Amino acid sequence: MSGEEDGGMVAAMERLIIEGGRSLEGSVEVHGAKNAALPLLAGTVLSAGDCVFDGVPQLVDVAVMLEILEQLGAQVRREGGTLTIAGGNVDRGEVSEGLVRRMRSSIFLMGPLLARLGRVVLSYPGGCAIGPRPIDLHLAGLAAMGARIHEDHGYIHARADRLVGAAIHLDFPSVGATENLMMAASLAHGTTWIRNAAREPELVDLANFLNAMGARVQGAGSDCVRVEGVRELGGVRHRPIPDRIEAGTLMAAAAITGGEVCLYRVRPEHLTAVTSKLREAGAAVEEAGDGLRLRGPDRPRATNLRTLPYPGFPTDLQPQMVALLSLAEGTSLVTENIFENRFGHVEELRRMGAQLATEGRGLTVQGVERLSGARVVATDLRSGAALVLAGLAAQGRTVVEGVDHVDRGYQALEETLARLGARIRRERLG
Ligand code: UD1
Repeated sequence: MSGEEDGGMVAAMERLIIEGGRSLEGSVEVHGAKNAALPLLAGTVLSAGDCVFDGVPQLVDVAVMLEILEQLGAQVRREGGTLTIAGGNVDRGEVSEGLVRRMRSSIFLMGPLLARLGRVVLSYPGGCAIGPRPIDLHLAGLAAMGARIHEDHGYIHARADRLVGAAIHLDFPSVGATENLMMAASLAHGTTWIRNAAREPELVDLANFLNAMGARVQGAGSDCVRVEGVRELGGVRHRPIPDRIEAGTLMAAAAITGGEVCLYRVRPEHLTAVTSKLREAGAAVEEAGDGLRLRGPDRPRATNLRTLPYPGFPTDLQPQMVALLSLAEGTSLVTENIFENRFGHVEELRRMGAQLATEGRGLTVQGVERLSGARVVATDLRSGAALVLAGLAAQGRTVVEGVDHVDRGYQALEETLARLGARIRRERLG
């Protein structure tokens, strides 16, 4: 559950105003990945030395994680594009409830804090807009490594003098649980095997980071990760991988407006499921080194889509694809296999004229010829992105409220889109 789309506490005081109907043209650079940055930052708690990062995206969730690290005793310094975290002094094993509520990814701190300090108290992260998001796999894995865990009045208390290596089989390849356990195992006594592990590229990035600090992690990116525990981890300099979800969002934006966009600093090999789906939808996509060029079709073609763990199609791009397929010729079937309730964009897209029908985890998208601008509300991060995309293609003006959700995961999305020629601006209310 450690992910991203929780209901934030920030008041929705800003909105995006979009004048639709303009093709996106030009080139932009993709930022560092949010889903890499959050576990990497949590992982600094494991290090006795300084962790220096280049290219960490400036996002609300990142700011909250930095605030938590400071609360735990770490020193955080940002100079230009460089972020330094001195975790040597981390001595508090407790994160305040307010901060956990503001960011569900604080669960990432559980494994590292337990491994480093032998104790942790964290308030229980509740449900969120896209489903209940339990943390049972995180807790069961830590318990298998010897942690004594109990819940009391909404708080999780965990203790372990020293975690011990264990053979863990995950019921589901959870990204957050694999990352949490990998970090905990790095300082455990003995060897840990995580089977049915998640294979997401952000997790491989985390393994590379840990290994550069002196950890012994093997097999990250396969379904079996082996971690040989070490006594201490040192300092490191690291740049998070490019954000494949931001890249996919911008590709879908180019496709939905029938534009032509070149993205730099991407890793095309992380985007093959997305590229192949966009081609099926009629886009022309070419790879060029660390760049991807996408030319959108006159009108998208319908195609079916199923979200799956990596290397399958990412759930974090499902809403944006639904926006695109809303305008396709023909009927598409979309199946959401990762989260129980990830159709928050459906009702809002209907306001814009999309023909959508949900049934359980399935969504039927009957393509229409045009969408029309409307006032819509983002209920979570990626549904917000989908509404922005629909607004770019719609006739007339779209107003997207709930922009605080979008800001959790996109660094100034409207600036990036405006650079590509979109007519989009942010309006501050009150
Ligand atoms: C991460 C991503 C998020 C993405 C998701 C799936 C980060 C910060 N966030 O979230 O953007 O949407 O992967 O690709 O990297 N589950 C359990 N028990 C657990 C843990 C998870 O049942 O203990 C279930 C969840 O409810 C969900 C599924 O497993 O249905 C996938 O969740 P998981 O892979 O853990 O996602 P996150 O790590 O939270």
